[in-house]
Amino acid sequence: MDPRGLVILVAILVAEMSCVADGTLVFPVERQKRSLSAIKAHDAQRRGRILSAVDLNLGGNGVPTNTGLYYTKLGLGSPPKDYYVQVDTGSDILWVNCVECSRCPRKSDLGIELTLYDPKSSETAELVSCEQDFCAAAYDGPMPGCKSEIPCPYSITYGDGSATSGYYVQDYLTYNRVNGNLLTTPQNSSIIFGCGAVQSGTLGSSSEQALDGIMGFGQANSSVLSQLAASGKVKKIFSHCLDNIRGGGIFAIGEVVEPKVSTTPLVPRMAHYNVVLKTIEVDTDTLQLPSDIFESGNGRGTIIDSGTTLAYLPGLVYDQLMQKVLTRQPGLKLYLVEQQFSCFQYAGNVDRGFPVVKFHFEDSLSLTVYPHDYLFDFNDGRMWCIGWQKSVSQAKNGKDMTLLGDLVLSNKVVIYDLENMAIGWTDYNCSSSIKVKDEATGAVRTVGAHDISSVSTCFIGRILTFFLLLIAILNY
Ligand SMILES: *[C@@H]1O[C@H](CO)[C@@H](O)[C@H](O)[C@H]1NC(C)=O
Ligand SMILES: *[C@@H]1O[C@H](CO)[C@@H](O)[C@H](O)[C@H]1NC(C)=O
Ligand SMILES: *[C@@H]1O[C@H](CO)[C@@H](O)[C@H](O)[C@H]1NC(C)=O
Repeated sequence: MDPRGLVILVAILVAEMSCVADGTLVFPVERQKRSLSAIKAHDAQRRGRILSAVDLNLGGNGVPTNTGLYYTKLGLGSPPKDYYVQVDTGSDILWVNCVECSRCPRKSDLGIELTLYDPKSSETAELVSCEQDFCAAAYDGPMPGCKSEIPCPYSITYGDGSATSGYYVQDYLTYNRVNGNLLTTPQNSSIIFGCGAVQSGTLGSSSEQALDGIMGFGQANSSVLSQLAASGKVKKIFSHCLDNIRGGGIFAIGEVVEPKVSTTPLVPRMAHYNVVLKTIEVDTDTLQLPSDIFESGNGRGTIIDSGTTLAYLPGLVYDQLMQKVLTRQPGLKLYLVEQQFSCFQYAGNVDRGFPVVKFHFEDSLSLTVYPHDYLFDFNDGRMWCIGWQKSVSQAKNGKDMTLLGDLVLSNKVVIYDLENMAIGWTDYNCSSSIKVKDEATGAVRTVGAHDISSVSTCFIGRILTFFLLLIAILNY
C-alpha cells in the first residue's frame, strides 16, 4: 500500500473507533455536537496518535575540508542516553555501536562523547527475534534457518566500502517534539534499530569524524521515519537545511509551511530518492548530452543523498561541465591533490570568476549551485578545489549514475514529501528558521537552526568524502 493510503486508513480507523468508544457507548449525546476533526483530535490525544512535528538538532559541516558530514543527537533506551548519529537519506535503518563491538571507535575529534549502546543497561531493551514480522519484512520473507530465540541480524555495506553488521533490538527513542515556536518537549516511541557488533572501513576506526552510528532517512519501512509514521506519531514528510557556512542547520519532520517550495516527482519503486534530471546549464549554456544519459534504472538515474559529501556525474557530463566551468579562466593551473581533487590558486572572488551551474528537473524544478558551493577552500584560502567528481561506475552494465550530495544540497531547504512522492528545494539561509505545521492542533510553529558541534574543528589537509549510499542497488 502506498504510504499516503496508509495514513488515510489510519485516520479513518481512528475516527471510526472514536465514534464507537466515545460516542455510541459513552457519550451518545455529545456525539452529535462534535465535529469529525474534534473527535479525531480528542482521539489522537487519548491514544497517543499525535502527528507531531519533530526537531532534530544538527551538527557538522558538509565542506570536505571541515567534517564533511552532518549529524544529530538522539536518546535511546530507558533511562535515555545520548547518541550522535550521521543523518543519511541514502540508507534505511538506524544503527548504533553496541557494547560487544570490538572494533568500534571510542574517541572522536568532533568534540562529542561516544557511547556504546548496552541492551542490558536499558530497562526497555528487547532483542528482535528472526520470527518477528519486522525481520521477515527485512528479509523479504522468512529468514533462512530461523528458529525462535535467534536474533534478527542486519548487515549494510555503504558506497565508500565501509560496512556494519549486528542484530536488531527494540527500545525507546526519545526525540524533540515541536510544541511551540522554537520550543520542544521530549517525546518517545518504541522503535527497532541495529545494534552494531562488527564495523569495518571508516566506521571501525577512531577517526576524526567518528560517531555513534548512522540514521537512515530512506523510504523503506525499516527507517525510523517509517516506523514513527506507522505508529501514528508523524507524517512521512521531512526537510533539511544543511548549513555549510556556519555548520549545523535545520532538520525537521513534518509539513513545511514556510518557505514555499516547488517540487519534482520522486521516481517510484526506487531504493533511493531518485529524481528525473533533464538538462544541465552552465552560465546559460546547456550541456549537449545524449538524451538517455540521466535515465533511471540499472543503477542509473539521479540520486539525492545527504550522506554523500560531494556530487558525482557520469564521465561525459563531468568532462563537459568541467570544460565550461573553467572556460573563463584559461590560464588556470590545476594541481591534483590527494589523488582525487583538482585544485588551483585563485585570489579573486570565486563567485565572480566562475559560472553558476543549474540543474533542471522534471516539472520545471531547478537547482542552482553557486561557485562558492562547488568550490571549496583548501589550505586556508591559499587554494580552491573543485567538488564535482566523475562517478566511477559500480553498476554491472557500466552505466553511470548521477549522485547529488551535500555539495549541492547545502544552503537550501530540501523537502522530502513521501506522502505525495515528491521532493523539492529552494535557496535558503540555513542559520535562520522554517515554519512547520503541527498536525495535532493545526498550529504553525517555527523550527530554528542548531549547531550542536561543540568544537569548530578544522581538518585542513585531510579530505574525507563520505559516500553513504546503500551499495546493493549498484550491483543489479
Ligand atoms: C511497508 O508497510 C506497509 C504498511 O505496513 C505494507 O503495506 C507494505 O507492504 C510494506 N512494504 C514492504 C516493502 O514491506
Ligand atoms: C516515555 O514517555 C512517557 C510519557 O512522557 C514517560 O512516562 C516514560 O517514562 C518515557 N519512557 C522512556 C523510556 O523514556
Ligand atoms: C542568516 O540568518 C541569520 C539568523 O537569522 C542572520 O544572523 C544572518 O545574517 C543571515 N545571513 C544572511 C546572509 O542573510
